[in-house]
Amino acid sequence: MVTIERLDKTISKIMCISRSDARRLIKIGKVFVNGEKMKAFDTKISESDEIVVDGEKLSLEKNVYIVMNKAAGIVCDDKSSAPYAIETLPKELKRKDLFCVGRLDKDTTGLLLITNDGEFSHSVISPKKHIEKRYRATLQNPITENDIAKAKQGITLKDGTKLLPSEMFAVTADNKTVDFVIFEGKYHQIKRMAGALDNKILSLHRYQIGELVLPKDLDFGEAKKVEKEQAFLVFEKAKNWQKD
Ligand code: URA
Repeated sequence: MVTIERLDKTISKIMCISRSDARRLIKIGKVFVNGEKMKAFDTKISESDEIVVDGEKLSLEKNVYIVMNKAAGIVCDDKSSAPYAIETLPKELKRKDLFCVGRLDKDTTGLLLITNDGEFSHSVISPKKHIEKRYRATLQNPITENDIAKAKQGITLKDGTKLLPSEMFAVTADNKTVDFVIFEGKYHQIKRMAGALDNKILSLHRYQIGELVLPKDLDFGEAKKVEKEQAFLVFEKAKNWQKD
């Protein structure tokens, strides 16, 4: 489907500037559409058009998918005074219509998806979908066989919430570095799971959602665009609890 939008609206959305700033750029002759200087704010633009603003080509892709290796201290909503993940994106990835797919806590690092595709985001965070998420945590105390058995059964949180079955396994000999595999995304879930086991999370890093693995070439704070097919790997391996 080809989306048709006004020139000023398109520029404002993609360049993360106000509609009036977009109009100013058009007015002063900085905007070219398919090689032609455009002066009309309401010129109709479709995905096949080429827009160049001040010598730079804008990306008119309808849906974009970005993976970030979130650094500690960055937040996933714009209501806080801490830096918002979207604001930290490099200029070439920024667009006004981007949002984070779900949340990672401020102190949690790792794989964060950013998109402008509402349907995709909705499916990933839907409690019905049971998308698999993998985290590596360091814990205050070593985990025990009993903890692993409880996770397999479904841990009951301190507030009485009964969680779905999950997996926990130690990845270091001291049993304090532990991978958690969960199929839901409740608020502070991993930290509350540790709390229910009378333990405490010291650090938390998400490294995989479904079959989408955090790319090794991304340092903390870095992000890159991925193809739709790669982003949609998040839906691989989701549990179907009805069938299980
Ligand atoms: N569970 C948590 O406790 N925090 C996160 O950021 C993600 C999962």
